[in-house]
Amino acid sequence: MSSNSKISQEVARRRTFAIISHPDAGKTTLTEKLLLFAGAIQIAGSVKARKAERHASSDWMEIEKQRGISVASSVMQMEYRDCVINLLDTPGHQDFSEDTYRVLTAVDAAVMVVDAANGIEPQTERLLKVCRARNTPILTFINKLDREVREPLELIGEIESHLEMDCIPFTWPVGMGRQFSGIYDLTKDQMRMFNRANPSKSGSAEDEFIPDLSNPLLTERCPDTIGKAREEIELIQLATPDFDHAAFLDAKQTPVFFGSAVYNFGVQELLDALVEYAPPPGAREAIERTIEPSEPKFTGVVFKVQANMDPAHRDRVAFVRVSSGKFERGMRLRVARTGKDIRPNNPVSFLSQRRDLVDEAYAGDVIGIPNHGVLHLGDVLTEGEKLHFTGLPFFAPELFQTVEVKDPLRSKQLHTGLTQLGEEGAIQVFKPQIAGGTLLLGAVGQLQFEVVAHRLKTEYGVDAILGPSRYNLARWVTSSNPQALRKFLDANISNIAYDVVDAPAFLVSSQAQLRVAQELHPDIQFHVMREQGGQIFAESH
Ligand code: G4P
Repeated sequence: MSSNSKISQEVARRRTFAIISHPDAGKTTLTEKLLLFAGAIQIAGSVKARKAERHASSDWMEIEKQRGISVASSVMQMEYRDCVINLLDTPGHQDFSEDTYRVLTAVDAAVMVVDAANGIEPQTERLLKVCRARNTPILTFINKLDREVREPLELIGEIESHLEMDCIPFTWPVGMGRQFSGIYDLTKDQMRMFNRANPSKSGSAEDEFIPDLSNPLLTERCPDTIGKAREEIELIQLATPDFDHAAFLDAKQTPVFFGSAVYNFGVQELLDALVEYAPPPGAREAIERTIEPSEPKFTGVVFKVQANMDPAHRDRVAFVRVSSGKFERGMRLRVARTGKDIRPNNPVSFLSQRRDLVDEAYAGDVIGIPNHGVLHLGDVLTEGEKLHFTGLPFFAPELFQTVEVKDPLRSKQLHTGLTQLGEEGAIQVFKPQIAGGTLLLGAVGQLQFEVVAHRLKTEYGVDAILGPSRYNLARWVTSSNPQALRKFLDANISNIAYDVVDAPAFLVSSQAQLRVAQELHPDIQFHVMREQGGQIFAESH
């Protein structure tokens, strides 16, 4: 086989996705069950253990101790049927930060877990927004049907209105809570019976399957639940359009699955659909050209940088999503930004069933490259070509703090530290337009501030004083009319700050203030996201 067709074959069997959910909806449990199905049982235990550690760690110092673990388990690779599945972890609430968002730029699909008792919750909504902005195909798993939860039809309605896409139920619950009888598979016209006598045995190939929704045996076996389910299924079959694969890939339809992750129930249906319908890695846009995943030459982009075990040595792991070609341990790679070459000999091994998967990687896979600051967020690695990728977003911070240094003699170190932490994406740094204004730190999660203060101290020897800021909203501003932009910046001098690439942002304390500015300045665009490089903006608000 030629190496090109080998690459195409490997790409075609990759599925790279993330699970998005609100804390406690069941992401950890579902992750474990997915790993179980893929035969990675030992690994499954470690996911749970990791979460327990996370809960136990109430402050950053503790979290830091866990960093080795969290690096290793932030990507899980498994094989299911003929596919290699990469599951990228989106950090949960405690360490919620911009990283969470950026991980979503490295996946080709997302699974949204919804707690059937709660419906769509705030954090899911934030993450969904990112998926929507990127047209990421989404599969929906409605969890916890073994409990008394909300009506499935009502949940579907709620999801449709939040997602602005059609829900296409692939499975439907028959009963719930104490009367949970099982899941009817609309695509196969068969019911998977819940093993009430022994729920922990549920969800396996040993389950009992009963074909045909109108089967009298179902009436006999589920007398209290099947009637209602039949009515609902008839209704959704009339009311929902057929599943259209192209519409799913275009994020216009989401297949919906019901189940109970804790009992392993309905999970296999989800995994099968993921393998069958989620897209393999696609083309990636660079400013120079489009990169096809099966091109022979390696390209990849750093979508996350994480400080590793030893902060004193500033060792970091750069997470690189392979965009094309084949990665081999020890190959020479060029950092497009600096023109410098690196030779990753010790890529970090993520949780995987097969060790050798780390030695070889194809589009959709993630490799972790330990380095001492050579690799920055958004860096492109190639075999020599100079490329700039688009698409790595920075998000308008929702939290701000001022930052000053206790000892003025250390202000140089403060600037160095903030620049480097900014490059890593740990925090965003804004310089007010007013001369002499105090630097501002911007974040999307509170923990980011604690992390930065701690790291400034331990890695740069800077005692930073963080203080409250009157701002809590930022929008990057652009205009097709440079004069109008200049005028706007001058007229709002006390609300303008420049970020790390000198892109101007408009900082205010309330939505109302933003609305007024938008009304007064129709020729200015206000953006909630800035893409790597600064020039390109997405999704204006
Ligand atoms: P997360 O990662 O999204 O935060 O959620 P996680 O999987 O940790 O699940 C949160 C809680 O919900 C856990 O309970 C978990 O056992 C439970 N859970 C998950 N899936 C289901 C389900 O299908 N049915 C039911 N009834 N519960 C479910 P916990 O009490 O916080 O932890 P534990 O004591 O069970 O470990």
